[in-house]
Amino acid sequence: MLYLQNIVFKFRLFIKRVKQRKGIILAGGKGSRLYPLTLALSKQLMPIYDKPMIYYPVSTLMLANIKEILVITTKRDIDSFKKLLGDGNNWGVNFSYKIQDEPKGIAEAFLIGKEFINNSPSALILGDNLFHGAELIEKLCKAEKNKGATIFLYPVKDPKRYGIAEFDNNQKVVSIIEKPTKPKSKYAVTGLYFYDEKVVNFAESITPSKRGELEITDINQLYLSDNNLTAEILSRGSAWLDTGTFDSLSEAGTYIQTLEKRQGLKIGCPEEIAWNKGWISDNDLEKLSFKYPNSEYSTYLKKLPFNEY
Ligand code: G1P
Repeated sequence: MLYLQNIVFKFRLFIKRVKQRKGIILAGGKGSRLYPLTLALSKQLMPIYDKPMIYYPVSTLMLANIKEILVITTKRDIDSFKKLLGDGNNWGVNFSYKIQDEPKGIAEAFLIGKEFINNSPSALILGDNLFHGAELIEKLCKAEKNKGATIFLYPVKDPKRYGIAEFDNNQKVVSIIEKPTKPKSKYAVTGLYFYDEKVVNFAESITPSKRGELEITDINQLYLSDNNLTAEILSRGSAWLDTGTFDSLSEAGTYIQTLEKRQGLKIGCPEEIAWNKGWISDNDLEKLSFKYPNSEYSTYLKKLPFNEY
C-alpha cells in the first residue's frame, strides 16, 4: 500500500513539474478613455509606433518562455485579434481566444480561462501594458521559478491610480491597496502577474468590489496572507508604460521609436524572439518577412540572421 502511495505521489510530482506555465492576455474593455480612437477598433490593436499594441505583451510572455497563450477580448474585437495573430504557429506559439462579455475585472480572466489553465501555473498580462529594460528577462525567468505568486512593482508619480504596495521596515510587502486615497508608498503593482495553479480557486472565492469588478488586488492579497507572494521591484532603469490615455499612448510610441531608431533593433518583435529562441528556423523567418514586402518591418526580419550584435 505504502509502495502504491509512493508511486502516486511521485507521479503527481512529475505531472506538476512538466506542466508548462500558460499565458493570458487580457485585451477586453471598451477603451472609452480613448474615444473616438477606440469607437471601432480595440485599444490593444492601436499602433505603438511600428506594431500593434498587443505585440508587446505577447513578446513579454514569449520572453518568459510561455508558448500557450489565451487572448481574452470582446465579442466585437475577437475576429480582428484572430486575423492579426492567427493560431500562433508562425511564431512557434499557440494562441486561443475567449470573450469577456463585460469588463468585470482583471481577476475574471481566471474564471474565463479556467479550462485553458487546466490546473497549470499561469501568467497574466494586461494587453495595454508595455515592459522594457535590460533586467526584464532575468526577472521573468526568476518569476517563472518562484512558488506561489509573483508581482512586479514599479515606482510611479501618481500612486492613487493603481494597486499600491505597503512595505514594513524590512522592505517586505505587508499589504496591497487598490487605488488608495492615502498611498503608503509610490510602488504600483504592474499589469503582469505570475501565479501557481491555485489562482483559479482564489478567483472563484472573491466577490466584486465597490466598482463592480473582481479585483486582481484581492487575489494578490490572498497570496500575501498565505505568505506566498514575491514582489519584484523593477528598477528605475526599466520602463513600464501603460497606454490608457492619449498622452500615454503617444508617449509609448515615441519611447519605442526613439530606442528603435537609435539602435536599429526592434522592441516587442515576436518574430525575432521566436527566432532567437529557436522556435522558428531561418527559413520560417524568411517566409514571414515576405508577408509584408513593402514594409520596413519586413526588411528588419530579412536582415536579422545577418545582424551582428
Ligand atoms: C488595474 C489594477 C491595479 C494595477 C493596474 C495596473 O487597475 O486594478 O491594481 O495597479 O491595473 O495598470 P485598473 O486599470 O483597473 O484601474
